[in-house]
Amino acid sequence: MARKRVAILISGRGSNMVALIEAAKDASYPAEIAVVISNEPDAEGLAHARSAGIATAVVDHRVHGKNREAFERALQAELAVHRIDLVCLAGFMRLLTPWFVEQWNGRMLNIHPALLPAFKGLDTHARALASGAKIHGATVHFVVPEMDSGAIIAQGVVPVADGDNEATLAARVLEVEHRLYPLALKLVAEGRVRVVDGRCLIDGVPMLNSP
Ligand code: GRF
Repeated sequence: MARKRVAILISGRGSNMVALIEAAKDASYPAEIAVVISNEPDAEGLAHARSAGIATAVVDHRVHGKNREAFERALQAELAVHRIDLVCLAGFMRLLTPWFVEQWNGRMLNIHPALLPAFKGLDTHARALASGAKIHGATVHFVVPEMDSGAIIAQGVVPVADGDNEATLAARVLEVEHRLYPLALKLVAEGRVRVVDGRCLIDGVPMLNSP
């Protein structure tokens, strides 16, 4: 089966992007990273993608002012140029309109640093700590118009330790993210994921624990 052509959308550091690039170096991985697109011209991740020999593009949202659709049309054009099958959001910090999300229904993934549906939105690690939860983690889900609400593809769990602060907990979760995103993309690229009534039915094991 032909490998799926993937675009990774970033805004910053790009450590999840790196994890996906590394996974896709294996010729037996069912997806290839065709392009990395950033809305931030100075995103750290862009340099890494270039040094890995991957095509990059910048679609700067500021150029389009408040016109979100114009920004998204530019994004869509870039995705078309690279004949993209699947989109992975990886620390991409722009909200997308329903129009754009619909174009990629069932073909756009996001990674969120919490066990959804708990802790949607920002500052997930601080909120998990404050809640007293004993487990925390990360979720890869399909993107739907409502933020952090699409069908859950895979989750990874970490313990919350008594001595944790936001930084130590974030680091533990990030390590799981880097294993989880390649796993989730693999399941989707292999066609093992079906969405039925808002749930993903999966042929495979969509769960990771902290080592
Ligand atoms: C990750 O924690 C991811 O879960 C969240 O944003 C962060 C991006 O980190 N959506 P990086 O840019 O992949 O290093």
